[in-house]
Amino acid sequence: MSKYLVTSALPYANGDIHIGHLVEYIQTDIFVRFLKLTGNDAIYMCASDTHGTPIEINAAKKGMTPEEMVAKYNQEHHRDFKNFQIDFDRFYTTHSPETRKHAVNIFENLKKQEFIFTEEVEQYYCPHDKRFLPDRFVRGVCPKCKADDQYGDSCEKCGATYNPTDILNPACSICGNEPVRKTSRHYFVKLEKARPAIEEWINKEGNLEPNVKQWLKSNFLDQELRNWDISRDKPYFGFKIPGEEEKFFYVWMDAPVGYIGTTQKYCDEQGLDFDSWWKPGTDSKIIHVIGKDITYFHTLFWPAMLHYGGYKEPSRVQIHGFLTVNGEKMSKSRGTSVKAATYLNHLDPQYLRFYYAGKLTASMDDIDLNLEDFRFRVNSDLVNKIVNLVSRTTGLLSKRLDSEVSEPAVSIEPVVAQGQASVEAIENAYRNFEFSRALKLIVKLADTTNKYLQDTAPFKIAKTQPDEARAVISGALGIVKGISILLGPVLPEMKSKIEKLLNAEKVWDWQDLDFKLGPRKINKFTHLAQRVDEKKVEAMIQETKEEAAAQEKQLPPEVPEFKKMIEFEDFLKLDLRIGRIISADPVKKADKLLMLVVDLGLEKRQVIAGIKKSFRAEDLIGKKVMIVANLKPRKMRFGTSEAMLLAAENAKGELALLGPVALENPQMKLDPGTTVS
Ligand code: MSP
Ligand code: ZN
Repeated sequence: MSKYLVTSALPYANGDIHIGHLVEYIQTDIFVRFLKLTGNDAIYMCASDTHGTPIEINAAKKGMTPEEMVAKYNQEHHRDFKNFQIDFDRFYTTHSPETRKHAVNIFENLKKQEFIFTEEVEQYYCPHDKRFLPDRFVRGVCPKCKADDQYGDSCEKCGATYNPTDILNPACSICGNEPVRKTSRHYFVKLEKARPAIEEWINKEGNLEPNVKQWLKSNFLDQELRNWDISRDKPYFGFKIPGEEEKFFYVWMDAPVGYIGTTQKYCDEQGLDFDSWWKPGTDSKIIHVIGKDITYFHTLFWPAMLHYGGYKEPSRVQIHGFLTVNGEKMSKSRGTSVKAATYLNHLDPQYLRFYYAGKLTASMDDIDLNLEDFRFRVNSDLVNKIVNLVSRTTGLLSKRLDSEVSEPAVSIEPVVAQGQASVEAIENAYRNFEFSRALKLIVKLADTTNKYLQDTAPFKIAKTQPDEARAVISGALGIVKGISILLGPVLPEMKSKIEKLLNAEKVWDWQDLDFKLGPRKINKFTHLAQRVDEKKVEAMIQETKEEAAAQEKQLPPEVPEFKKMIEFEDFLKLDLRIGRIISADPVKKADKLLMLVVDLGLEKRQVIAGIKKSFRAEDLIGKKVMIVANLKPRKMRFGTSEAMLLAAENAKGELALLGPVALENPQMKLDPGTTVS
C-alpha cells in the first residue's frame, strides 16, 4: 500500500466545463479509482483556478465581483464533475487562505535564496481603462506577416511570436483605444539559477514520457532559461505580494500552489497529517495530470518552485492531448463544443467515460471523439457485449432458476483462467495510463464469456437440466463479478449496480478478483445502460448550436457606468463652445488621428482628434461641432492639441461627432464661439 496524491489541472472559474475538459477529469478519476480499488491510500485533489486578468474583466462584464463569479463557477463545475461520476476527495479554490499561505511561503523561501529580483519593465498601458495590458489584451497588426487583429504576443495567421511592443497599430482589446508604453517594477524568478533542480527533475526516470523530456530539452534547456515574471500591477484579482500594496502574484505563480492549499484544507478538515503528503523525504507520490497546453508551467517552473520552496516534487506529470470532435477542433457553431451540462440533458455519462477510456493512452496525442464511432463502440462493446452478458445471465437465473446461484460448472475453468491471466496486464495498463489496453482485455474476456454461453446453451437446457444450466450461469456470473471489478475504475456506477444485483457481501475490490461468485440468491435486475440513440446525439448537437446562436444574440449593449456626481461649480469650469471646422487633414503615420483647425470666433485652434476611423477629413470641413475650449493644450507626438471635440462612442468604438443639430432654433445663428452650458 502506497500513498498517492493525484491532481487534475485546476479549471479556470471563468466559463463552463465542456467535453474537452472532461477528457482530463475522467482520465484522472479512472486512475485514482484504480489506485483505491487496488488498496492504495490515494487522494484526488482539485480546485477552481480563480486569479488573473481575464477572470477579473469577465466578472466586471457580467456585473459581478470576481468573488461572486468564482463562487458561481466553482459550484457549477463541482456539480458537472459529480454528474460525470468524477469523485474528488476535495474540490476547493485557489482564492483561499491556505493557498495564500503556501504561495507566500514559497515566495519567501525563493527570496531568501536569492532567486527573486525586481526590474523595471516597459509594457502597454491603457490610459482609458487605467490598467496594464497583458499580451492577450493588446491586439494589432502582426509585425511579420501584417495580418490584422492579432494577439499581442503571437500571430494566429503566420505563427510568429514577438514582443507585445513590436506589434503594429496596437489597440487595447477592452476599449479599442491606443495604449501607451509605461514602465513598472516587476518581480522575477531567476530560472537559470534553478537549472540544477529542473534538470535533475526532468531527467529522473518516470517523471515524464521520453518525448516530453526531449521537447523540453530542445525548446528550453538547450538555451539559457529566461527569467520568469511573477508579478502583475493592480487592478488584479489575486494575492498581494508581501510588502507591496499595488503588486500581485501572477496567476501562474499561485495556481499550482492550489494543489498544496487544497491538500492543506483537506487535511485540516479530516484531521490528517499535511506533511506526510508534501514534505520532501516522505514516501508519498505526487502525480499531476494535465493537458499538453500547460506542460511548460508544470515541468519547468513548478518543480523549481517546489524544490527551492521546500516542498516535495511530483513523481510524475502525466500529459494528455486535446480533444477533437469528428476530426476537427471543437466548435460552437458546428455544435461540437458540447458543455458537460448539455451532454447530460441527452446522454448517459457512462458512455463518455467508457469511450474516453477506450481511447486514452499515456501519450500526448490528441483524442478524437468521432460521434459515429462513439455510438458504435458503446453499443457494440459496452451494451452488446457487457451489459447484455449481465442481463441475459441474471435474467435466466431469476426467471427460470429461482434466482439461486450454485457452485460453478467445471466447464467455466478456461474462462476463469483467462480472467486470472489478464489481471496483471490490466493492472499494469491502468497504472501506466494505458486505459485503452485495459479495456481491450476486459472486452475480450466478455467475448470469451459470451462464446462460452453460446457453446453451453443454458437457455436451451434450463427446463430439461436445470442444475446444469444453473451451474453454467453461476460460472458466468463469477466472470461478471470479475469484469465489474476490472471495469470499476471506468464505470463505478455499473459496478455498484452489479454488486447489488449479485448480492455482494461487501464492496468488491481487487482482492475479490477470483472470478467466482458462490451460492446465494441474486436480486432483481436493474437497467445498467441503454444503447446510444442516434436521435439523442443529434439533439445534443442541436442544443449546442442553439446555445451558440443565443449567446451571439444576447451580447449586452455595453453602457458604461455613470461617473461620480460633481458639484455645479465644477460643471461651470467647463468652457463649452460651438466651433466650425475650417480644415482637416490626416496625420501621416497615425492611423487614428486627424489634424483639424477649428474656428472658435475669438481665435482658431489646432485640434488633434482620434476620429480617423469614423470620418474622412474632407467630409468634416465646414461642419459645426461642440468644443471643450478650456482644456489645457496637450503635447502629442504629432503636435499640440489646443482643444477637444465632443463625440459619442459606442461599445464597438464607432464615433458620432456632436454638434448643434437637433433642436436648433431657426431664429438663432450659432456662430463659432457661441457658449454652451
Ligand atoms: N487554470 C489552468 C490550469 C492551472 S493548473 C495549476 C487551465 N485551466 S483550463 O480550464 O483552461 O483547463 C483545464 C484543463 O483542461 C487543462 O489541463 C487543459 O489542458 C484541459 N483542457 C481544456 N480544453 C481541452 C480540450 N479541448 N481537450 C483536452 N483537454 C483540454 O489551464
Ligand atoms: Zn482600454
